[in-house]
Amino acid sequence: MYKTDVLVIGAGVAGLSFAIKFAEQRSDLKITLLTKSHKQAGNTAWAQGGVATVWDFDTDSFNKHVDDTLIAGDGLCDEDIVNIVVKEGHDRVKEIISWGTRFDKEEGGDYNLGMEGGHSEHRILHYKDVTGKEIQRSLVEKAMTFPNIELKEHYFAIDLLTQHHLGRNITRLSPNTECYGVYALNKENNEIETILAKTTIMATGGAGQIYRNTTNPTIATGDGIAMFYRAKGLLSNMEFVQFHPTALFNPAGENPDFLISEAVRGFGAILKTPKGESFMENYDPRLSLAPRDIVARAIDNEIKTRGLEFMSLDCRHLDQTEFLEHFPNIYEKCKSLGIDVFKDLIPVLPACHYLCGGIHIDQHGRTSVKGLYAAGECTSSGLHGANRLASNSLLEGLVFGERIAKVLAAEIDNFSLEENIPDWDAEGTDVPKELVLITQSWKELKEIMSNYVGIVRTNTRLKRAMDRLNLLYNETELLYKNTNVSTQLCELRNVITIGYLVTSSAIMRRESRGLHYNTDYPEKYDYLETTWL
Ligand code: FAD
Ligand code: SIN
Repeated sequence: MYKTDVLVIGAGVAGLSFAIKFAEQRSDLKITLLTKSHKQAGNTAWAQGGVATVWDFDTDSFNKHVDDTLIAGDGLCDEDIVNIVVKEGHDRVKEIISWGTRFDKEEGGDYNLGMEGGHSEHRILHYKDVTGKEIQRSLVEKAMTFPNIELKEHYFAIDLLTQHHLGRNITRLSPNTECYGVYALNKENNEIETILAKTTIMATGGAGQIYRNTTNPTIATGDGIAMFYRAKGLLSNMEFVQFHPTALFNPAGENPDFLISEAVRGFGAILKTPKGESFMENYDPRLSLAPRDIVARAIDNEIKTRGLEFMSLDCRHLDQTEFLEHFPNIYEKCKSLGIDVFKDLIPVLPACHYLCGGIHIDQHGRTSVKGLYAAGECTSSGLHGANRLASNSLLEGLVFGERIAKVLAAEIDNFSLEENIPDWDAEGTDVPKELVLITQSWKELKEIMSNYVGIVRTNTRLKRAMDRLNLLYNETELLYKNTNVSTQLCELRNVITIGYLVTSSAIMRRESRGLHYNTDYPEKYDYLETTWL
C-alpha cells in the first residue's frame, strides 16, 4: 500500500501543469504522478501545430478567438468556458514561456504566429513542427524541480477505488460517490499496488486507438474515461470524435499514423486529388482551411466516391527555405518514404485524432465523483462542443491544470485517506493461455469502429456496431475474470468500453452536428442537448 496526498494519473500537459501549480501553493503536501509508460509518452509530446492564443493585440482579440472556437464547436460549446480558456490561456502560455518553453521567433524577435483551419487570425505559437515535444520537455523539467512531486513511470492505473471497494453498492444514481485512489500495476515487477490518495486528478488523455487509423500514440486507450465510467461517474458528448483530415498515407501501414500538421495548410498547402485537381471549392468557401469536421468529411467523400485510398496535399509551390525551417520533421518523414514534398504530392487520409467528449467537469475541473478532478483530453469541459478548434487542446490542459490546482489548494483539507481499502484480490485468475486472443479482439474493435462509427454514420451501421461490441464485451469480461491482469488485457477492456460509449452516444444524437454526421438525420435540431452517460 502506498499513500499520497494527491494522486495525478497522467503526465501530459494537463497532469504536469496541475502538479506544478499545486506544488507551488502546497509545498507541505505530497504529489504523486503516474504514467503508464515513460515520462515523454502521451499525446502532448506528439503535438505538432502549436498552441493557440491571442498574441498580436493590434490585429487579433480574445473575442475573435472566442468566436472562432464557438463557430467550430457548432453550437455546443459552453460560452463561459470558452471565455475562461481563451483569456486565462494567454497567461498560462506566458507562464510556460517563463518556465523555459521555447516558441519560434521572427528575426526581429517577435513570435512567429502560425495559422490553422477555423482560425480567423494568425495566433498559433509553435516550436518548429514539434511543439508538443518542447512543451512536454519543459514541463517535465519544471515539475522535477519540486521536491514534493514524485513521478512514477511504468505504473498502469487499473481501476479507481470507491465505496464499492468497501463492500457498498454504488450505482450511477448514487449520490456522493467518493474516490480514494487507484489499484495500479507496477509494470516493472508485475505487482498490483493499492495507491491511496486524499484526492485524485484524472489526466489520462485520449482514446484514438479505438480506430484503425489514428494519429494518437499507442498509449491513447481511453483508460481514465473507462475507469471513471466503471466507477459510475458522469460523462458527456462521447459521440464527438475528431478525425484529422491529413494523416500521411503509408502503404506499409504504421501505428500511429504520422500527422501532416494543419499548420502546413495554414502555410499555404492545398488539398488536391492524386491527379492534382483541387476539390475543396465544392465543399466550403474556406477551402483547405475550413474547420476540421468539414475538411475530413470532404476528403472521406472524395476517397469513397473515387474508390481511392487517399487524397493529396500540394506543397510544391511553397517557399522551400521557410518550409524546411517550419516543418523539418514532416519533411524528413516524407523523405523517408520516398516523397519529396517540393516535387511530389503528399498522400493523405483522415485519421482519428481527438476525443471531444469525456469525463464531465465543471469550471474548476470537479467531476461527479467526490475527491476526483479531471483535466485535459479525457474531459468534456464545454470548450470544444461538437468540434474542437485546432490547437485549443494544449491550451485547455494548461488552463484546467491551473484551475484545479487553485481550488484544490484550499479544498484538499476537507479530504482524508480511506485506509480500509482491501488489497487487490487475484484469486481464481490464471496466466493467460492465448495472448493472441487479446490482439485479435483489439483488431476487431478497430474494424468495428472504423467501418460503422467513423466519419459518416447511419442508424444501421451504429446498430451493427453495438451488436458486435456487445459480443466483444462479453468475451473480454470473461477473460478478465479468469486471467491475471496485464496491461494489454486492461487496455482491451478500456478500448471496448470507449467504443461502447462513443457508439451509445452516437445512437442517442438524432441529428448531424459538428463531428457527428448521421445520414439518417442530416439536419440539426433547433434545440441543443448534451448527451449524458
Ligand atoms: P496526454 O498528453 O495524452 O497524457 C496522458 C498521460 O496519461 C500520459 O502520461 C499517459 O502515460 C498517462 N496514462 C494514460 N492512461 C494511464 C493509465 N491507465 N495509468 C497511468 N497513466 C496513464 N493539440 C494542440 O492544442 N495543438 C497541436 O498542435 C496538437 N497536435 C497534435 C498532434 C498529434 C499527432 C496528436 C496525437 C495530438 C495533437 N494535439 C494537439 C492534441 C493534444 O496533443 C492533446 O489533446 C493533449 O496533449 C492531451 O494532453 P493530456 O495531458 O490530456 O494527455
Ligand atoms: C496539427 O498540427 O494539425 C494538430 C493541431 C491540433 O490537433 O490541434
